[in-house]
Amino acid sequence: MSALSESPVVIDQVTVPRSLCYDRSLDTVWIINQTQLPYALEQVPLKSLEDCCHAIRSMQVRGAPLIGVTAAYGVYLALREDCCALEAAINELSKTRPTAVNLSWALQRCRNELSTVITEERAEQALALAQRLEAEDIAVCAGIGDQGLRLLEGLWQSRAESQERLNILTHCNAGALAAVDWGTALAVVYKAAAAELPVHVWVDETRPRNQGAALTCWELAQRKIPHTLIVDNVGGHLMQRGQVDVCLVGSDRTTRRGDVCNKIGTYLKALAAHDNDIPFYVALPVSSIDFACMDAHNDIPIEERSGSEVLTATGRNAAGELQQISLAPEATPASNYGFDITPARLVTGLITEKGVVSATESGIASLID
Ligand code: MRU
Repeated sequence: MSALSESPVVIDQVTVPRSLCYDRSLDTVWIINQTQLPYALEQVPLKSLEDCCHAIRSMQVRGAPLIGVTAAYGVYLALREDCCALEAAINELSKTRPTAVNLSWALQRCRNELSTVITEERAEQALALAQRLEAEDIAVCAGIGDQGLRLLEGLWQSRAESQERLNILTHCNAGALAAVDWGTALAVVYKAAAAELPVHVWVDETRPRNQGAALTCWELAQRKIPHTLIVDNVGGHLMQRGQVDVCLVGSDRTTRRGDVCNKIGTYLKALAAHDNDIPFYVALPVSSIDFACMDAHNDIPIEERSGSEVLTATGRNAAGELQQISLAPEATPASNYGFDITPARLVTGLITEKGVVSATESGIASLID
């Protein structure tokens, strides 16, 4: 498939396609369809604004950084069809998912950089911008990894004499699949593994969509990083037994005060880490900070998803077929909040591409150029 040869990432002889890449020869955006993982590695083309909206809404692409870059390509594909469609495209894309701020961040960059361009040249400029955001995302996530590596090196120095591995607990998927490449929390893990730190990752399964089980385990296995899948309730127990050295999670939106919105369940992990004196770091690009947001509980729209995700589970049966099973009595009411808020006081630090800062207003202000 042409997209596989466009920008593969070769990790220890294993070729892993990027979660998104643009194919010049076909003028097409290719994504990994994450709804098919870990059962099939399927790349699908995005050829129109509607394709991009569908990919974001249906979570074929997901994760804050990747949603932002996909949206920028959506603007390009819309302008390729109709060079006057800038505001209409931004409007459509902004409605696809509510919580990750990278979506509005990317769309605002499109508006700022394209609205002053003459209409005939907008599509070309929109493509250049989307490609720039794609390249920036890779560099930014690699930078997050480098910043976090220093933290893990320090932590390992203090543990190396008493244990054989450095145990990291993560929640959801904040890996290469959630960005164009590298990821946020997992970028730190990948850089640490490359630096030969003996990392081992406890992966929360992350009900109801199981991004941990399906996606994080998949990409850690691709990169041969030692990991163990756990159900969402185990983290506190492992922490009490001294089996977690550090928690590393991502963020979909962080306020200017350092309160962190991330996948539902993150808050409970942070509480348990605090109670057990375990460092709890959030790895995020500066583009995931909502500098206009002071009050996480009032200002961040928390996505509420269909109760059917809670009432069912999808997996592969013994015959290798995908099957959905129901988990509760018929007609059971279910609630399905996608994200929660971890208060800044529970966050040891924010690992960004510009450095590690405290989860405070002054720490975050220091990131502004
Ligand atoms: O609903 P998703 O899968 O798009 O949510 C993504 C997350 O919440 C991840 O945990 C991640 O930390 C934020 S994006 C790197």
